[in-house]
Amino acid sequence: MRTVTKDNITDVFTGYFADDTDPRVKEVLTSLATHLHDFAREVNLTHDEWRKGLEFLEWAGKITTPERNEFVLLSDVLGLSSLVDMIHSVPGATSSSVLGPFHVSNPPALEVGGDMKRDFEGQVLLVEGHVRDAEGNALAGATIDIWQTAPNGMYSSQDPDQDIHSFHALMTTDDNGRYAFTTVRPVSYTVPNDGPVGQILDAAGRHPWRPSHLHYIVSADGCRSLVTEVFPDDDPYLDEDTVFGVRDDLVMTYVEQPAGSFPDGFALSGTVKDAYSRVEFDLILAKA
Ligand code: BEZ
Ligand code: FE
Repeated sequence: MRTVTKDNITDVFTGYFADDTDPRVKEVLTSLATHLHDFAREVNLTHDEWRKGLEFLEWAGKITTPERNEFVLLSDVLGLSSLVDMIHSVPGATSSSVLGPFHVSNPPALEVGGDMKRDFEGQVLLVEGHVRDAEGNALAGATIDIWQTAPNGMYSSQDPDQDIHSFHALMTTDDNGRYAFTTVRPVSYTVPNDGPVGQILDAAGRHPWRPSHLHYIVSADGCRSLVTEVFPDDDPYLDEDTVFGVRDDLVMTYVEQPAGSFPDGFALSGTVKDAYSRVEFDLILAKA
């Protein structure tokens, strides 16, 4: 009989694979077990700590619903989601960034120049840019799915007072690959922290804040779909996003524009008399 010891258990584990195991499954599971076993030996994991870890996962499972996936949130605050994003980033293309749990399906279509803020109050933010491929060609007909928080810091799916499609829109770029819309500036907000992930943040002395951002999913024929975000360069949480989503190329200046200078070509043209802000954010897609 083979004797399993704390030093050979990883080798014994890998010896249990069937000969016809898929090579990638074998590679991933072997590495996972190697790191897991090394981790337990390195921190001298106690029974109590091991049990707490399992209870944590059980709690995460219990509170996970289609609207709130605590495992995704765990991956986000541990930096795993962002690490996977960065491992697969394509040089020359816009960086990808976390999807988060608040995207809703079937967002309402919005014309280029349309308004996404509807009846919400607040200074107008004009957002515009172009979608291009990595060679600089404009991508006409690209679709941009956009969503953000309302001024109260909540997404529509978190807030019974909002229509499920408020601050969500689907835009198609024009012949020049241009998109443009008006909204109000999204605000910094906290990720859900009333469950097990919140306990990890507390235990680590971490806050649950994300810097203000607009979410995008951009798709075009022949290109890789891009999930990304744009951040204002003056947000106090920019250097400490609790889900590690900020990348240099996603940080833009929201430029204050004087009263009386709102341009033509927007649904709100002629109605915005006050100062507003404007941000330009171009999106570069990698080839599929
Ligand atoms: C978000 O940006 O919507 C988000 C991302 C990760 C976790 C929670 C929220
Ligand atoms: Fe978000």
